[in-house]
Amino acid sequence: MRRSLLIFLLATVVIVTLLLHSVSTLLSLLIEDASADAIHRSELPAPNSTLLETRPQLIPKIIHQTYINESIPPNWKPAQQSCIDLHPDYEYILWTDAKCHDFIAKEYPWFLSTFVGYKHNIQRADAIRYFVLAHYGGIYIDLDDGCKRRLDPLLSYTAWVRRTRPTGISNDVMAAIPQHPFFLRVMESLQGANRSWLLPYITIMASTGPLFLSVIWKKWMGQHAHLDPDKWIGRVRVLMPDEYNKHAWSFFKTYKGDSWHGKDARFIFWMGKNWLLLTVLGFLLAAVVGLAIWWLYSRVITLGARRRAAGASPRLAAFRFPVVSGVPLFRKWSGSQQTYELVEQHDA
Ligand SMILES: *[C@@H]1O[C@H](CO)[C@@H](O)[C@H](O)[C@H]1NC(C)=O
Ligand SMILES: *[C@@H]1O[C@H](CO)[C@@H](O)[C@H](O)[C@H]1NC(C)=O
Repeated sequence: MRRSLLIFLLATVVIVTLLLHSVSTLLSLLIEDASADAIHRSELPAPNSTLLETRPQLIPKIIHQTYINESIPPNWKPAQQSCIDLHPDYEYILWTDAKCHDFIAKEYPWFLSTFVGYKHNIQRADAIRYFVLAHYGGIYIDLDDGCKRRLDPLLSYTAWVRRTRPTGISNDVMAAIPQHPFFLRVMESLQGANRSWLLPYITIMASTGPLFLSVIWKKWMGQHAHLDPDKWIGRVRVLMPDEYNKHAWSFFKTYKGDSWHGKDARFIFWMGKNWLLLTVLGFLLAAVVGLAIWWLYSRVITLGARRRAAGASPRLAAFRFPVVSGVPLFRKWSGSQQTYELVEQHDA
């Protein structure tokens, strides 16, 4: 008992230390309000303003969206159309699965095996948007986000992302110039972040989704804090909730369709918008599962020891125990691997 307990405690200490180290960015995310980089309302002309935009346009006039194929479900059509109608002079690119695959294979072959190997379609949908923004530049918009006004005033930055409450940023609308250093960093970080976590939700959030993006964003700001923000091309501005969709004068409108089609797509969008809640819940669930496994494990050991103690002489049992204790530890490990795979197969 003592030896296995020691191993368990040691492993726990190592894991907790690693976790604390890795969540230090997460913790600092909690207090990051992005105010230093917020796009202020005073910078933006009022909608339908006759004042012409005097700032230079930096971001190219391209709208990127993604879907499985060309048949957009009816409940997303109005959102998609609202952006197309308001921007007849913009190039519009719908990134279908086939098109995404061809693009990665042709332009970024080093990423193809990771891209194809992603277990969840959402991960591909997440990853492709970073690549097309870094490659072509433009504005990426999720299919459930419609446009309420022209996006021209948002083209005067080198890059921007969208703030989520209470913390972090989302990847549902974002924009950049081609080869923007932040999105190049995001692109290059995808392979390293391609790890499996206990739950598919966490795996998606942390490998490609908003959690992944938020952590890189936070580190990015920390590493470049010494630069003059007005001269630094790598600065990432932040679209705040007011400008995003809270008001009549905001840029976007989130559509809620109610047709049966696209239910899973809606869930994906919902996940993107509530990633913090899901992450916290996921970590809690993982902790509960871990504790339950440990409880079961210690029960098995106690039972085994009792049985042995009943059968053999106490001295022999005491002698044998440390040798035998390696076996349940191994079993526990392979047992947890199996449940892990089962959980993973229930795709999100
Ligand atoms: C801007 O003009 C359009 C078309 O005239 C109108 O539908 C829309 O309500 C106006 N928006 C605002 C915020 O005034
Ligand atoms: C597009 O994908 C949807 C969902 O998988 C499918 O139902 C539909 O038949 C596909 N459409 C085409 C044209 O392949």
